[in-house]
Parts: sequence; structure tokens; C-alpha cells
Amino acid sequence: MVAQASRLKNVRYDIRGPVLRRAQDLEAAGHRILKLNLGNPEPWGLNAPESMLQDVVHNLTQAQGYSDARGIYPARVAVAQYYQTLGIKDCSPDDVFLGNGVSELIVMSMQALLNAGDEVLVPSPDYPLWTGAVSLCGGRAVHYRCDESEGWAPDVEHAAAQITENTRAIVIINPNNPTGAVYSRETLLGLLELARRHDLLVVTDEIYDKILYDGAVHHCAAALAPDLVVLTMSGLSKTYRAAGFRSGWLVVSGPKSAADEYLEGLQLLANMRLCPNVPAQHAVQQALGGYQSINELIRPGGRLYEQRNHAWEQLTAIPGVDCFKPAGALYLFARLDPDVHKIHDDQKMIIDLLDQQHMLLSHGTGFNLPTSDHLRMVFLAPVEVLDDAVGRLRRFLASYRQ
Ligand SMILES: Cc1ncc(COP(=O)(O)O)c(C=O)c1O
Repeated sequence: MVAQASRLKNVRYDIRGPVLRRAQDLEAAGHRILKLNLGNPEPWGLNAPESMLQDVVHNLTQAQGYSDARGIYPARVAVAQYYQTLGIKDCSPDDVFLGNGVSELIVMSMQALLNAGDEVLVPSPDYPLWTGAVSLCGGRAVHYRCDESEGWAPDVEHAAAQITENTRAIVIINPNNPTGAVYSRETLLGLLELARRHDLLVVTDEIYDKILYDGAVHHCAAALAPDLVVLTMSGLSKTYRAAGFRSGWLVVSGPKSAADEYLEGLQLLANMRLCPNVPAQHAVQQALGGYQSINELIRPGGRLYEQRNHAWEQLTAIPGVDCFKPAGALYLFARLDPDVHKIHDDQKMIIDLLDQQHMLLSHGTGFNLPTSDHLRMVFLAPVEVLDDAVGRLRRFLASYRQ
């Protein structure tokens, strides 16, 4: 009998839990599943820029050994310079930690911070690795509400009301997964003011910072608060369509001397994992410094722009389904009107959808939303596939009752 560590007992990561297992069972039984559950661009023909691949190939022979634990110097310079252009003046390569995706850095940042009983403010809904990582590291994720009627903007007053003497940090996800909200400067200033008043570490996940529609403007939180210690994270998975490279970065800004001990811990954790995947690090400089092909995808006529519009129009035409039109990222987070669709268990609904229509979406409570009336659909697929997907959902909802 091999028992699981007790610290995993409270860790939830439902979007890849029973639902995914059911999808795998169906596939093993020979069914083809339409999967719109993952923000993974490449399977939909949205490939990384060729120049990035070439830089990896070109450097492959020099990428066989371990690198500096924080990552190779030219990649860290490129990251530091990128954030300088966004307004973080004092950002140097020494402030950059590269990681095996933002995922690894999320866990490392929480591991270095939390003691048992510490609390972290996390948005609801969230990208659930944030809540999971806080729990894994012995902390307690305390969720602040994002308000659907306000375009899913964080409710700053609600966040303020959640702060206790145990609160250590506030997590901001902007642009947001799953909602697609892009936060206003005022909202960000409100959240940052809470951090200032209560001495919280600000941790901001900006992995979709260049995936913006209809002229939405992304504000880098760290640039708005040079007086606060801020960890800013992003990477190659989304904007640069290289999720399989497992490459991301964390930048420390603000009065770092106030965080000396914490940063020592972060360095210790970076040392313990030796270094991030080295070949992929060679793509970072080209990604950040080169031609930004993402811009072709997000403007009118571009695939992401057109797919977002198309999927949103089709989805919101289903009776009893409404959805905030995302201003950023890759997802539609749709609401099923409880007066029309009486869903008590949204994970069951997603499994029933899988069984009946062979399509995989994600349930809202998997993103730590307290109510079971939402689902998330990824709009990376071409419009014909999205049409097919929305048709399946329409047929399913027309007769589905719980
Ligand atoms: C908000 C957010 N942060 C982090 C990640 C993970 O990124 P990575 O592939 O760099 O680990 C994702 C992936 O979907 C995400 O949506």
C-alpha cells in the first residue's frame, strides 16, 4: 500500500481530473473527441514563429549542459529589456528567473513564500494552478470576486474585505484566464493599493499580455507600482505558441532589499531544480526581440480575432447562454442562465456532454468559481470546428436536464 502525501489532499486541479480521465477512456474505446479544453495553440495549426525554432536548432549543440540556475544570460537580458520597455526602470538580468513554463514558477514562488496557515488572495474564477499551488505549499487560497456584470473586473472592495493578518500575497491574472477580462488601470491601482496598505507581495501572471482584441490595452502591474515588490510572470506558451517548450520567466521588481530573504529562498529553489530546459531558453531572445507575429493573429482578419468573434456570436445565440466578449486571451467563459438550464453539478454536465456529444469543454467550478453555471470553451480551433462545437453544445443543452 503506497499512500499519497497528506499535503496533496487539499490540492484540487479538477480541469484535468475526472473529466479528462473520462475523455481518455472514450478515446481508448475508439471515439474521436473534439477537445476545446486546453489553451494549447499548436495542435490547431497556430505554430511558433519559424525564427524561434531556428534559434533553438542553431544553439542545440551548445544546449547540452546545465545552464545558470536562473537561465542563460542572453535570454535574461532579453526579458529584462522587454520589461524596461514596459516601464520597469530598475530591471536587470539578475532580477529574472527562467522556468519550465510559468507553471513551475508559480509553484516555486509560492513554495518560497508560504508557511502553514498563510493566506494568498487569488481571483475567482482563476487559472486553477494558482489555487492548487497555494494549497500544495501549505497556504490557504482566499478568493476575491471578479464581477461578471462588470466585465469580470476584480471587485477591489471584496478583495479588501478578505484580508486578514495572515494574508501574505495577492495574485493578479491579467489578461485573465478563464474570463478574457483585461483590467483597467484604475482596477489595477486599486489592487496595488491594497498590497501597499497591507504589505502584500504582488504576484502577477501576465502570460496573455499581448493577446488583446478591439484595442484593449494591457497595463503591466509592476510598472504601475515601482514602490512595491512585484513578481511578474509570462512565457512562450501562448503569445509565441510554443507551449511544449515549457519556457517561462519571472521578473522581480521594486524595493528588492525588502525581499532579500524571500529572494534567497527563490534562488535556493532555482538551484535545486538545477536549471530550466536549456534548448528552449534559446528561443526567448528571438521571441521577445523579433517580429511580433501575434499581432497578425489578433487584428481584424487574423485567426484569433475572427475565431473569437465567430465563436462568441454562435455561442451567445444558444438560448439561455450568455458570455462576456473576451478582450484578451483564448477563452470564452459562458454563463448558462439558471432559469433555463438548471445545472447543479457542472462537472457532471461536462462529463455528460462528453458522453453524448464527444466534446470536451471545462466546467466553471474547475476554475474556483463558486456557482455551477459556467463553462469554458477555447477558441483556438478554426471557425468550421468552432461551428461544429457550438452545434454540439446547442443540441446537448436543448434536452439536457439534471
Ligand atoms: C493564466 C495562466 N498562467 C499560466 C499558465 C501556464 O503556462 P505555462 O505553459 O508557461 O506553464 C497558463 C496556461 O494555460 C495560464 O492560462
